[in-house]
Amino acid sequence: MTGKIEHASHDEAPVAPPTDFAARANVTEQQYRDMYARSMHDPEGFWGDTARELHWHAPWDRVLDWQSPHAQWFVGGRTNIAYNALDRQVQRGLGDRRAIVWEGENGDIRTYTYAELLEQVKRAANALLNLGVVSGDRVTLYLPMIPEAAIAMLACARIGATHSVVFGGFSVSALADRIQNAQSRVLITADASYRRGTLVPLKGNADAAAAQAPVLERMLVVCRADCDAPMQEGRDTYWHDALAAASSDHDAAPLDSEHPLFVLYTSGSTGKPKGVVHTTGGYMVGTYLTTRTVFDLKEDDLYWCTADVGWITGHSYIVYGPLLNGASVLMYEGAPNHPDWARFWDITERHGVTVLYTAPTAIRSFMRAGDDFPARHDLSSLRLLGSVGEPINPEAWRWYHRVIGGGRCPVVDTWWQTETGSIMLTTLPGAFPAKPGTAGLPMFGVDPAIVTREGDDVPDGEGGLLVIRKPWPSMLRTVYGDDERYVRTYWGEIPGVYFAGDGARRDADGYITVMGRVDDVLNVSGHRLGTSEIESALVGHASVAEAAVVGRPDEVKGEGVVAFVLLQNGHTADPAELRRHVSRVIGALARPDAIYIADALPKTRSGKIMRRFLRQVAAGQEISGDTSTLEDPSVLDRLAATPAQ
Ligand code: PRX
Repeated sequence: MTGKIEHASHDEAPVAPPTDFAARANVTEQQYRDMYARSMHDPEGFWGDTARELHWHAPWDRVLDWQSPHAQWFVGGRTNIAYNALDRQVQRGLGDRRAIVWEGENGDIRTYTYAELLEQVKRAANALLNLGVVSGDRVTLYLPMIPEAAIAMLACARIGATHSVVFGGFSVSALADRIQNAQSRVLITADASYRRGTLVPLKGNADAAAAQAPVLERMLVVCRADCDAPMQEGRDTYWHDALAAASSDHDAAPLDSEHPLFVLYTSGSTGKPKGVVHTTGGYMVGTYLTTRTVFDLKEDDLYWCTADVGWITGHSYIVYGPLLNGASVLMYEGAPNHPDWARFWDITERHGVTVLYTAPTAIRSFMRAGDDFPARHDLSSLRLLGSVGEPINPEAWRWYHRVIGGGRCPVVDTWWQTETGSIMLTTLPGAFPAKPGTAGLPMFGVDPAIVTREGDDVPDGEGGLLVIRKPWPSMLRTVYGDDERYVRTYWGEIPGVYFAGDGARRDADGYITVMGRVDDVLNVSGHRLGTSEIESALVGHASVAEAAVVGRPDEVKGEGVVAFVLLQNGHTADPAELRRHVSRVIGALARPDAIYIADALPKTRSGKIMRRFLRQVAAGQEISGDTSTLEDPSVLDRLAATPAQ
């Protein structure tokens, strides 16, 4: 499928929130305006007051220390995010409230109250301490969407171990690279995970990764499925045994506000994935405030974010932000189309989900599957819908609003990134009318601008680069082990401001539409992939001499992966084998949708590949633009005549 997806235009009719929603909203238009204005002219006062709503073991000396581009927030303060997410809720009398309601793909259901979750997290914290994990160590998690994923993250946070969650869909070598890069001695995994009715052998992958990651010493293995994964004596322990043997008494460590909370690897336009580092205090305050205001959380909500904990959305808006607000969180293990495309709507009806946060790619899949699936279920419990991960095309927005939201639920389109830690742009649901396809206004403390490559402002209505001019509490602090890369990548491209790769424009109302990446990063089904990573996977195959990867528009996935490959002399093309190879090296999410076996790539005389032309070929478009800089323009004609495989 290569259908072009429609993008937001200026004339989308705004959709106002229903009056009863607006009347009960956590943030009204006036409140937003006042809070935003204060966050700009008195950021220290604004953030200090917000942070004081949470527990600090010791107060900070200064709210912000900005030595551009390095920020420290709540300097000298001591706190613990797991304490704020759990102990604090129990102390507030919310011990019996549901914290996590979990549904397995096979129909298993488990519920944890705040008191029960706290007990599990305390045991898990002690289990980690018993393994010799100390504050500052990195612990890698390679887990399915099961409650133990949240428990393990919170247990790490409780003792000051820095977690590195690796998405369960990543390959053995991607996992091994991340374990090794983070110098992680301990891995927490599961025997297996249910996905579309079959078992994904996570422990088998973990064993293979361990063989490639000499730093790894110990493994904790959650028994999710049948518990018959082979265990290595002296290295592997079952999670349930470790927790049973551990005490349920544990005091959360009072950590420095800048203590590293987690590393999360994400793709960039060059090189290997980078470990984005988030710290404790600022991330906590950022996710706490955005969750409450963007999702308008109320006591009786059942909130469901369908992301995986392996991505930033899962970190900030399944685990930390909602629990910091005492919310009841639904968590689902499996695929949206198992046993059929009604699974989400079945879950929504049975559990009474009120707030749903999902991705445009899922919404487009539901649209294609047809209105019959949601029509089979009563979705009247829903009151607010959210979207994240990629631009949402207006058609999908309207379908989501009408068919899932019954026309009565505001839709919040939230723009942010792994690096930003929390939501940066959106249209607060009860405060402003939403414009389909347009994320909207800046969140508190966020100072966006649309600029040229030189950093000059672009007039309203025109496209440019989206930058952030002031530091914000939940911003990334560095790239793990490579601060120079942090400075260069995020603050060096456009001097003095944060730029992480998106193009955008702003309209006369100040609403910002994010149009997508302007660098060599693809967004495939909401997953970020660097073209260079896929290229280096391809050239790692014995038959490949050279490879260039670009994206092409895809009706469902947003973007599809297209590879142009030059073979080594004497090798024959085997596209199926190349796809398997990319899956083995990175993961199935990076598998090329189309492969062109080429005899040459369009290069300038200095040897630079002109990807612009490759994108045109990949999209089946006529070649347009100046081809005179190419060393051999006839390459393009030959490519255009090459069939995709
Ligand atoms: O291109 C933007 C797109 O996703 C990128 C960030 O990807 P990642 O770090 O994996 O985080 C995804 C979840 C926060 C951005 O650079 N993106 C994310 N949300 C939106 C979006 N593009 C347009 N509109 C959005 N709402």
